[in-house]
Amino acid sequence: MGYSNGEIVEVKGNKYKRILIDLTKEVLEEDILPILMNSLNDSGYFFNLNGDKLAFLFREIDLGNFKERIEKFKNFKKLYKILTELITKIEAIKSYGIKDGKRVYIDYDGERKVKGRRDKENHRGKFFYALHHKFKKDNNKLPAEFENKIICGDSEKVLKKLPDNCIDLIFTSPPYNFGLEYENHNDAIEWENYFTKLFSIFDECIRVLKYGGRIVINVQPLFSDYIPIHHIISKFFMDKGLIWKGEIIWEKHNYNCKYTAWGSWKSPSNPYLKYSWEFLEIFCKGSLKHEGETNVSDLTSDEFKEWVYAKWDIAPERNMEKWGHPAMFPEELARRVIKLFSFVGDVVLDPFNGVGTTTKVAKELKRRFVGIDISPEYCKKAEIRLSQGLSLFDSDSY
Ligand SMILES: C[S@@+](CC[C@H](N)C(=O)[O-])C[C@H]1O[C@@H](n2cnc3c(N)ncnc32)[C@H](O)[C@@H]1O
Repeated sequence: MGYSNGEIVEVKGNKYKRILIDLTKEVLEEDILPILMNSLNDSGYFFNLNGDKLAFLFREIDLGNFKERIEKFKNFKKLYKILTELITKIEAIKSYGIKDGKRVYIDYDGERKVKGRRDKENHRGKFFYALHHKFKKDNNKLPAEFENKIICGDSEKVLKKLPDNCIDLIFTSPPYNFGLEYENHNDAIEWENYFTKLFSIFDECIRVLKYGGRIVINVQPLFSDYIPIHHIISKFFMDKGLIWKGEIIWEKHNYNCKYTAWGSWKSPSNPYLKYSWEFLEIFCKGSLKHEGETNVSDLTSDEFKEWVYAKWDIAPERNMEKWGHPAMFPEELARRVIKLFSFVGDVVLDPFNGVGTTTKVAKELKRRFVGIDISPEYCKKAEIRLSQGLSLFDSDSY
């Protein structure tokens, strides 16, 4: 059966894409084409006969709905085969995007403010800062001795034991140097020393990340010190040749923060800005596309639609006292990052694993995991949380 490639034609002053389908005698003998042409049409598409060929003309299509509608032709085997092949053909044709739930194939570009967007993108040079990278494309298997393990130690040293290119996703929240009371870590050191240490760990993270792997860093700048840690970290990764994929705002609705410096109340002299959110910075090694070992996604359509909108309303973790850790992130944050950026069966690493929120959620979501933390106490608790199974303390999302 032959199908043409979706050339543009004009019908009664409107442009359509047209796929011409060769008809065999057998299909014609099914005598169903008049019913098809009368019943399977819409403001965005229709069929007609073009000599001995069937023509499908379309401007915009809700493909889900189209697939449902062809089901009523299931008993007409020859025609049904044509219709299913037609869907494959349509899916291979690039649409301009989705408008009101329909894929738009014609004229949509005319509505855009930027004409010839792709050419302009190419001319400007997408992620030009990352093009100098020399990352190898060969990915390696994570050795079994590290798989599904909580490892206690300094990540800079522990990560050196892992081979290159063996981790699919790194999700982590490093200490922010706010001066919190951690068990085995000084959280108020000079900023220069802080960044030297952090970047030596991140260098290892980049090395162990697979080609096409992602690293997602949750951070909050220390505004009182005027240190934009999220920008400094982003510059670090971009200088190392990773692609900055984007930034998610984690809106915690946390208004329990300093209002304004006394002395500048109601004055423009030095107002103190308030932040009720944290940042997630996302980087890709080598390629924006990630190939998983299984390529099995467990995202529902609703999750996908909601989470690609890059502002997430999630309440802060409420069980920090219970777990004896001063800076946990909530399980819901880990759940979204892991589902959106990794496939089932992928390896997820957290080099600042704390009491193991990432590793617990990774296990529940059927990912493999490695969690590293410098505190034996926190590692013990991470193990307990792994053995407890499903979420004891579910985080609320608003
Ligand atoms: C912000 S907390 C992470 C909390 C974690 N997301 C959770 O939900 O439990 C940062 C963690 O980094 C750990 N840490 C600090 N320096 C480290 C190092 N050099 N290697 C490994 N872990 C380190 C601290 O012990 C602390 O638990």
